[in-house]
Amino acid sequence: MGFRVFCSNSMTLIWGTLVVFLFVYALYVLLNIHKRKRFPPSPTGFPILGHLLLLAGKNPHQHLQKLAKKHGPIMYVQLGLVPAIVVSSVDAAEKFLKTYDHMFASRPHSEASQYLSYGQKSLIFAKYGVYWRNMRKLCAVHLLSNHKINSFQSMRKQEVQLLIESIKKEAHDCVVVDLSARILSLNANLTCLMMFGKKYMDEDLDKRGFKAIVQDVVDLASTPNLGDFFPFLGVIDLQGLNRKLKDLSKVFDEFLERIIDEHVEYHDRDQTKDFVDTMMDIMQSGEAEFQFDRRHIKAILLDMLLAAKDTTASTVEWILTELLRHPQVMKKLQNELQEVVGLERMVKESDL
Ligand code: HEM
Repeated sequence: MGFRVFCSNSMTLIWGTLVVFLFVYALYVLLNIHKRKRFPPSPTGFPILGHLLLLAGKNPHQHLQKLAKKHGPIMYVQLGLVPAIVVSSVDAAEKFLKTYDHMFASRPHSEASQYLSYGQKSLIFAKYGVYWRNMRKLCAVHLLSNHKINSFQSMRKQEVQLLIESIKKEAHDCVVVDLSARILSLNANLTCLMMFGKKYMDEDLDKRGFKAIVQDVVDLASTPNLGDFFPFLGVIDLQGLNRKLKDLSKVFDEFLERIIDEHVEYHDRDQTKDFVDTMMDIMQSGEAEFQFDRRHIKAILLDMLLAAKDTTASTVEWILTELLRHPQVMKKLQNELQEVVGLERMVKESDL
């Protein structure tokens, strides 16, 4: 009996959802029919899903590239209820990213951005507008100014020196060194020292470790989420992605809260002010021209943590890989180092 009641309830829910879904879709098609005429060329899509299936599979960019060859460098695709433009040539990209940048610079709403940026409060996910401009100015002036970045110079020198000393020793002992892991760890240490004033161990964030958690963020943020293409499906969370995003955001939030609490409890006046100190000062002084509380501090910290982690490390990794693949360039670089810096000292930031 209980089973039958459950079945009939869930069937009603499924039919109800389907009817609402079809109604919203029909309304959407009717309202947009006149606009479609002005859109760029588009491949044939499915009703309701549109071209959403193009995003399935491992390499969606390759499907899009093939279609662009047929439909042109500016192509229209319909991702569920979301209209999108695919740009596939340098000239067209320049128009979107440079000439008309201000029209396309904003960030769309997405389920991932809601969970990973305290409701689009971070720089990376904020919509283009007054809030983004204020927040960007605040970061440029207080966190990323030459003066602030230079104040960490001796710390950076010390950390690079530690790495070089350990590689020298391992080379002497003929031990194999995993350079990728070392660069990643150097980068993590530099980022933590500048942002939080101290190094953190991998498991301080979560028992799975920082790398696994960041990988989860990348995977979840890049998996097509049905809630982004059919906003009314976000609440149902058919793929379970929102639940996972919520869990991840909780891990980050607890970590960042702990760091802010530590800064509130203890502040070493002799130490260079890290990003948390600086933002706490701004919050307490009320000098920001917009609402700036703990959520904004956490959103910016999370931005920097995620944005600085892989980008810098993989840039260095690629540089080293390409140098190994091109011995003549490596030789040129070694000669330049010998002539300009010499072999007796480390490269200084002022040498660059
Ligand atoms: C080689 C290293 C890096 C590369 C290649 C890189 C690349 C990028 C790119 C392509 C964007 C998107 C720009 C746009 O959408 O207009 C971006 C944005 C951003 N990056 Fe980086 N980045 C690097 C290092 C860093 C570091 C070290 C930090 C933080 C300390 C950082 C913080 C940010 C932030 C906050 C944004 C958002 C800016 C905004 O939307 O206003 N990045 N980065």
